[in-house]
Amino acid sequence: MANEATEWTLCIIKPDAVSRKHQAQILQRIIDEDFEIVALRQEQLSRPVAEGFYAVHRERPFFAELVEFMVRGPVVLAALRRKDAVAHWRKVIGATDPLKAEAGTLRKQFGSDISSNAVHGSDSPENGLRETAYFFPGYDLGR
Ligand code: RTP
Ligand code: MG
Repeated sequence: MANEATEWTLCIIKPDAVSRKHQAQILQRIIDEDFEIVALRQEQLSRPVAEGFYAVHRERPFFAELVEFMVRGPVVLAALRRKDAVAHWRKVIGATDPLKAEAGTLRKQFGSDISSNAVHGSDSPENGLRETAYFFPGYDLGR
């Protein structure tokens, strides 16, 4: 049984933010927001891995563009743990469209448009677990 006091969310620092060298500033914000970075790595996603990750969006008109964008350069994957991790991280990253994101959010600070929006965050505790397990299989997520 998972500890109800903590929750998991998956952060992806997307190719636009990595190519602009914003990794350190984004990781510092994660630390300042009291997330525990339980696992961290950089990799360039393959097309099948990106398609699998965004499978829920497969029928959406922006799917091909989204996958193309996510494989265009390296990303940083971070398994984050915190109380209310999902809601808190979504608040820190801001609205999907950086032009609509509030001041002080990462997407406002580092995003350019709805595709190049700098960071990903899981949208529910269930997806936080599922997405973390997708990229970090073998970790004990039950704590
Ligand atoms: P994410 O999953 O990346 O954290 O973003 P999100 O929850 O805020 O947005 P979601 O609806 O899950 O969409 C996933 C990603 O697809 C791209 N998108 N493009 N062109 C469009 O209308 C459109 N809508 C969504 C975005 O890059 C979004 O982050
Ligand atoms: Mg989403």
